[in-house]
Amino acid sequence: MEIYIDTANLDEIKQAADLGILDGVTTNPTLIAKEGIDYGKRLAEICKVVSGPVSAEVIAVDFDGMMKEARERLKIADNIVIKLPVTLPGLKACKALADEGVKTNMTLCFQSLQAMMVAKAGAFLISPFIGRLDDVGEDGMELIRNIRQIYDNYGFDTKILAASIRHPNHMLHCALAGADVATAPLKVITDCMKHPLTDIGLERFLSDYKKAFG
Ligand code: E4P
Repeated sequence: MEIYIDTANLDEIKQAADLGILDGVTTNPTLIAKEGIDYGKRLAEICKVVSGPVSAEVIAVDFDGMMKEARERLKIADNIVIKLPVTLPGLKACKALADEGVKTNMTLCFQSLQAMMVAKAGAFLISPFIGRLDDVGEDGMELIRNIRQIYDNYGFDTKILAASIRHPNHMLHCALAGADVATAPLKVITDCMKHPLTDIGLERFLSDYKKAFG
């Protein structure tokens, strides 16, 4: 499974890239607002650190506005992926951009048919939001499993990018369900390498060695 980091914070992106397992970056308007920096400027900085796909979300909600913003963002770097909401104007922009060979990440997906529609339109990535579904008492992982089945049934090559990931257990079940990519905050990525028995075991090995050899 590919791993993207879900942040617009440059320091966190550098830390994740340093681990050697980072495949891409997703950003959104909330994440960029937290940074309080110009979106285009930050995207350019991110693209200098990461060569994999970097998702840049449009702010416009109408087709023409989305296309205009997409064209601006695409000038930033070759690895920019245009992130569009799974609305009707978003679907139309997805198809228009795909026809031009532009990669899109279709975001805010909460039901499987949205994923089927954007796959038909040629989306590069679909972003089902697991955590936000869990938050309202639904089963986010079921959405991943259903999209996987639909895509496999028809041979769609749109990649499933599991989003709104809150903890390592989400990462585990995404991998088991066959998500192609998971995007997560830095803490979740680093927590995937943690287990208390690893720490206890390492401590014991080192103290035994020290006892024997000083
Ligand atoms: C995905 O691209 C989104 O940026 C993100 O995963 C949303 O996560 P949240 O529900 O934790 O805000």
